[in-house]
This record gives sequence, structure tokens and C-alpha cells, in this order.
Amino acid sequence: MTGADVNVHIMGGGDFGTMPDGRRVRRITLGEAPGPVLTVLDLGATVHSLEVTCGDGVRRNVVLGHASPADYLDSPHYLGGTIGRYANRIAGGRFVLDGREVRVGTHDRGNHLHGGPDGFNRRLWQLVEHSETQAHLVLRSPDGDQGFPGTLDAGVRFEVLGDGVRMTFEATTDAPTVVNLTNHAYFNLDGAGAGTVDDHHLAVEADEYTPVDPTGIPLGGHAAVAGSPFDFRAQARIGSAVRSGVEQVARARGIDHNYVLRGEGVRRVATLSSRRTQTRLDVHTDQPGLQVYTGNFLDGSSPAVGGTHRQGDGIALEAQLFPDTPRRPDFGSAMLRPGETYRATLEWRLGAVGSFQFQDPE
Ligand code: GLA
Repeated sequence: MTGADVNVHIMGGGDFGTMPDGRRVRRITLGEAPGPVLTVLDLGATVHSLEVTCGDGVRRNVVLGHASPADYLDSPHYLGGTIGRYANRIAGGRFVLDGREVRVGTHDRGNHLHGGPDGFNRRLWQLVEHSETQAHLVLRSPDGDQGFPGTLDAGVRFEVLGDGVRMTFEATTDAPTVVNLTNHAYFNLDGAGAGTVDDHHLAVEADEYTPVDPTGIPLGGHAAVAGSPFDFRAQARIGSAVRSGVEQVARARGIDHNYVLRGEGVRRVATLSSRRTQTRLDVHTDQPGLQVYTGNFLDGSSPAVGGTHRQGDGIALEAQLFPDTPRRPDFGSAMLRPGETYRATLEWRLGAVGSFQFQDPE
């Protein structure tokens, strides 16, 4: 089946407007109430909305989204997008691959960020499979795209589960390259537009995080979270951490740091919860790192569904390789070679808070 053969209207999708060159953008709906209902755009293989039954029994959309293709393309915030080829930063946009220096696009204080100025979140992906609960989107990124070598064939499969969503990312290449794909959804478990996530609680399965320089590049080495506002080993209130005033937090205007996750294989790595709506999100992934980003740069300038987004109105939990891995052999490898398949899994499981204990006073 090709993208053109898929009739999204029959399957519960719709038209989401047009790209600047006139191509149509589709919105694909997966799932059915009372279960999770996910809408995905072929623009950026973007998670546009995720409606769930919250712990208080009320249905809410718990991810931030824009209302039109133009708003997605104008926004620097990556709302719900599939991020590639390389999620997060590469210092100076330069790294050595098989002895040759590669230079990739830099549009973030001299560094590469999230695939470059024209990242995968800005592309029209092709819908190749669609059922009531699953959609598979693919993108061919040509050799030299944003400076990255090799033709990369990337794919994301979205699957609605009884209690959430699974995303499976895949990529193959015809020449050695680097790849690091993730999704950049911002969550607000009180519902998109309900204010900040300051009163949400977060737990992250990590004893260490990666301190950064003033441009967001890891300084080198890991630091213990113990005794710092970065300590989410037990669930802690987000507002207290982002207002702590320590230098690492001030540098990033909040938390915008990579956590060194415990364990391996698909495992639960983070839990976000709201006392107000009694809702809980568990993030599961097979990735080694989690960029925790507290929406520090949301500034009210991008039109959004239902208004606008201001600082702290959502939190992104970006499962990925560590930032700057192509320059840091000690961080592991981001290499993908011909004949290999890159794979990454990300799951969001939602439900009522249940036994989750809130520690801080109201
Ligand atoms: C990531 C980065 C942040 C910021 C956001 C998008 O989380 O680490 O610095 O670029 O994406 O605004």
C-alpha cells in the first residue's frame, strides 16, 4: 500500500490544511473512547493530541499542539514532533565519522539541535499503513540532508494500546551515518492549556544526570542527582526544582538536561503525575538517556490549540541517546552502518495515580 492509497477519511482521519507548497497535511485518528484517542499528523510524524480518561474520570487532551501546519512550521518548539536525524545537540555541529569530519546544520547557539534547521519534524512523512489502532509513517532523508551522510530511510509506527501509546522508530542507511530518533511531546496531565506543570510530580529512574555548558552541551562526565534539585529518584514537585536557583537550572531556565537512566531494555524510566486530575503517565523506553525539558523556552509567541503556551505549560520527556554522543565515545555510539537497522521504542502508559504517594504539601 502506498500513502496515496490510504483513505484516511474512511479510517477516521481528516484534512489538517496545507504545506506552503500546497501539499495536503493529514490528521490520522487512532483508538476509540473510552480508551486513548491519538491524533497524528503526517507533517513531522507529529503527535497532535492524545485524549485519555484522566484519574478523575474526565477526558482531556494531555499533549500540547498547534492548530495549523503554518503554526507547526513557524514554531521553534518541536511540539509532538518526531525528531531526527539526531535528537538533541552536537557541539559546533561537527564530528568525526570513520576518520572524516562531518559538518551538520547549526541553528542553536552554534550547535546542532534536533536534526538541524530543517529537521524531520518539519517534513511531510508518507503514511504507508493505517488501521483503527496503528499508523506507520516513513520518510526518506537524502544523502547530505542537513549535512548528514547516507540516504536514511526512517519510519515510525504509532500504536494505541489499552492504556496508552507505543512508538517504534526504525532507520536504515546506505552509508555510515549517525541517528537518534525520539518524540518531542509536551505533557500536561491537567489538560493542554490548563496552566503550568509546576504542581505535577516527576520521578526518573536515574542516579546521575549530565551537567551542561551555557549552550546546553554536556560538560563531560555525569553528576550525581543526590542533594540537588535534579533529584527525582523519589517523586518530587517540578515547580520546586525549576525555581531552585542553582546554576545548572538557571543556565537552562529550568530543567533541560539528560538523565542517565538505570537498566536496559524496555523498562519504565519516568513517572509524571498530577494530583489535581489524579492522572499518571509512565514512560517506558529502551533508550539509555532521557532529556527532561520543562518547557523553559515556551514564551507565548506561538499560536496553539486553545490559546498559546507559556513557560512551563508542558514537560517533554525525550527518550534518546545522550546529547553529543557522536563526539563522545564515552557516551556510547550513535553509528548506523549499511545492513544494520536502528530501532528505538517509546511507550506512554496512562492511568489513575492509584498508589502513587505525593510527598510535598499542596
Ligand atoms: C529540547 C532541547 C531544548 C529545546 C527544546 C525545544 O528539549 O534540549 O533545549 O531546544 O528541545 O525548544
